[in-house]
Amino acid sequence: MCGIVGYVGAQSALDVVLAGLKRLEYRGYDSAGVAVLADGGLATAKKAGKLVNLDKELSARPLPAGGTGIGHTRWATHGGPTDVNAHPHLDGAGRVAVVHNGIIENFAALRAELAERGHELVSETDTEVVAHLLAESFSSCADLAEAMRLVCRRLEGAFTLVAVHADEPDVVVGARRNSPLVVGVGEGEAFLASDVAAFIAHTRAAVELGQDQVVELRRDRITVTGFDGRPADGDVRAYHVDWDASAAEKDGHDYFMLKEIAEQPKAVADTLLGRIDAAGSLRLDEVRISASELREMDKVVIVACGTAFHAGLIAKYAIEHWTRVPCEVELASEFRYRDPILDPRTLVVAISQSGETMDTLMALRHAREQGAKVLAICNTNGSTIPRESDAVLYTHAGPEVAVASTKAFLTQLVACYLVALYLGQVRGTQWGDEIQAVVRDLSRIAGAVERVLHTMQPVRQLARTLAQKDTVLFLGRHVGYPVALEGALKLKELAYMHAEGFAAGELKHGPIALIEEDLPVVVVVPSPRGRSVLHDKIVSNIQEIRARGARTIVIAEEGDEAVAPYADHLIRVPVTPTLLQPLVATVPLQVFACELATARGNEVDQPRNLAKSVTVE
Ligand code: F6R
Repeated sequence: MCGIVGYVGAQSALDVVLAGLKRLEYRGYDSAGVAVLADGGLATAKKAGKLVNLDKELSARPLPAGGTGIGHTRWATHGGPTDVNAHPHLDGAGRVAVVHNGIIENFAALRAELAERGHELVSETDTEVVAHLLAESFSSCADLAEAMRLVCRRLEGAFTLVAVHADEPDVVVGARRNSPLVVGVGEGEAFLASDVAAFIAHTRAAVELGQDQVVELRRDRITVTGFDGRPADGDVRAYHVDWDASAAEKDGHDYFMLKEIAEQPKAVADTLLGRIDAAGSLRLDEVRISASELREMDKVVIVACGTAFHAGLIAKYAIEHWTRVPCEVELASEFRYRDPILDPRTLVVAISQSGETMDTLMALRHAREQGAKVLAICNTNGSTIPRESDAVLYTHAGPEVAVASTKAFLTQLVACYLVALYLGQVRGTQWGDEIQAVVRDLSRIAGAVERVLHTMQPVRQLARTLAQKDTVLFLGRHVGYPVALEGALKLKELAYMHAEGFAAGELKHGPIALIEEDLPVVVVVPSPRGRSVLHDKIVSNIQEIRARGARTIVIAEEGDEAVAPYADHLIRVPVTPTLLQPLVATVPLQVFACELATARGNEVDQPRNLAKSVTVE
């Protein structure tokens, strides 16, 4: 949440910072602002609303040119999205500018203290206190990095801060506790950002800051210390970003979401790559939890939020079926507050695209405090969740920019299947040939996803006809149930429609009262093969809702003729083993939600009130 960029170098800081903010706008888009050091002073511009408003402001009132600057795109926490509350925030004299991501929990006490000392604060934000405190500390030590360390030691909560001071014109200082902050190292220039996407067009050499660290950026030098001032040499990680700037471009698509939906076959294939050996066995050497420890585990607990939680719900079916180990799935935001029973024989799996979701991070910290081992499934190299886990299995979806998660979800599913099969392999609950059969199916799945993508035109047409509806319901059974939840979530966040996902068997226990004439109900139908009892039951459920006037939109596998007579609209997906069906059945629901959002005139990549990477609890 909130995108931060800082720059020091020979280029125009304003240009670099604005370009970086454009790439980070997915993190928050309530307001935006910049500050540039020039002509011995500090020049700022900030505006409520999207970056385009800031662009207009800068065209009307250009800032002087300078080589040091910072910028921010905001997802509001304290104080509404107004010009005054937009970042950067300044001290009273206008010499310090600061941008912030996170929440400073003791800001009310700090604000009162500043007021007593005669400071006048103009915004409703928690951030402005930092600007004033920095100015006070700087006046005694004349060193911005030291002032930042002094201030950070007084702050409670989770925060990333980036600041400049007019008296140190070639310095940008950043600080990090919990929220992300990455340094980009260029030739005679340096960058700071919440996400490498902000500077990837300039450099792929990155340094990831650790917890409670302060970084001082100069053109030719980067110095990292702890909040206590001790050098942090051993505790910073330098790495090469292995995707290029084009990965964060729309590539001819109208929206990032459409591009990311289209990238799913590759993302799925990339996530499988190198993890299966020539003999068809799983090779997850990167999971640094030993086979003997995995054999000892007597419970798996999955923690995640939103779409990642839905991946976890599907993983439960696979883990319990392939390993016979009990598996619980818990919303990360609820987990630690219910005193969960955990011990060293519990394997906690934390699933997160961003690796920065605060609810998931707090859940995993709680799990580790109780002695559980934590395995992260994550898409963002070097982010906080994998850093703090015992082991990590990275998904290889590439950068996901659209706020609504699509390709990350499919790769999370693949990673979950790999973990489940690997557990089955090391615990001997699956025979080698059974694992190989699933692995063979998995290795064909990218092609199946590709085929689904080629048949989406009728789904788009159908979605457009439903643009005036208020409600859409989603039903599923078995792994189709979490798929229904995911379909409903996508529709809520993108089309702003009332959407609910139900287990089809639960319908008769209440939700069937919602059915009325022409209400669209999407039903995810399990394969008629194998567990055909499930198939038969859902066909009955479809008849029940049709009898009450529902308009049925049925997702069924190719060749399933039994369901066809009861479908007002039939969406075909390729034949897959039951447990893998979510990989193909989710795709039409993503396209459906995206098209409905477009038809309703909504912002597909940046839905209202949302932000990617939710770094507050
Ligand atoms: C929905 C969506 C969110 C995220 C959730 C967790 O489309 O994107 O529900 O899935 O905020 O985010 P990560 O995976 O980054 O922890």
